[in-house]
Amino acid sequence: MKSTLIGFVLGVVLSVVGAVLFLTRVMPVKTEGGPLPFEWMIAHSALHHAIGADEGKPSPIPADAQNLVAGAHIYREQCAVCHGDWGRAPSATAKGMFPPPPQLLPPKTGVTDDAVGETYWKVRNGIRLTGMPGYGSSLSDTEMWQVSLLLLHANELPAQAQDVLKR
Ligand code: HEC
Repeated sequence: MKSTLIGFVLGVVLSVVGAVLFLTRVMPVKTEGGPLPFEWMIAHSALHHAIGADEGKPSPIPADAQNLVAGAHIYREQCAVCHGDWGRAPSATAKGMFPPPPQLLPPKTGVTDDAVGETYWKVRNGIRLTGMPGYGSSLSDTEMWQVSLLLLHANELPAQAQDVLKR
């Protein structure tokens, strides 16, 4: 009985020491190299859980030309450096990041098929430890919906919005 207890305590202590050593000495910190085992799965299940019911939130503003043009301006100013500019190769910043920011433009390559509520959540809150900033304190609510609608409709944008992105 006593030896089982000692074995159990020793097991717990060794696991904690192992985890601390891993986190402080072994964990990769460079942006080069691939993900750790299970990193993607762990990070994405936590993200999915955090977004929860907000995924189904409908946009309070319509996806009309005026909002998509406004979204295109916001995208160019805030997002293009990481997520890609229409017709241009990924920037040096995008190429040097880990995890790599998905190239959401030019269209038909990486365009998101996420629900608009999910995109809005990510724009508002950001995604910790990935480089994806949260814009909740710098863009207005309307601006965050406008850029989220732009991404939802990136494959079917009116000419005026395309002009802003191609300029
Ligand atoms: C400094 C770089 C950077 C900027 C600027 C940036 N993002 Fe991101 N974004 C990222 C990274 C990196 C990820 C990937 C996160 C991950 O792997 O979970 C990401 C993920 C996303 C996703 C999820 C995409 C998917 O397919 O899962 C969306 C949507 C998004 N960003 C939208 C935006 C919008 C809109 C803006 C501008 C308002 C923006 N981002 C600005 C780096 C950036």
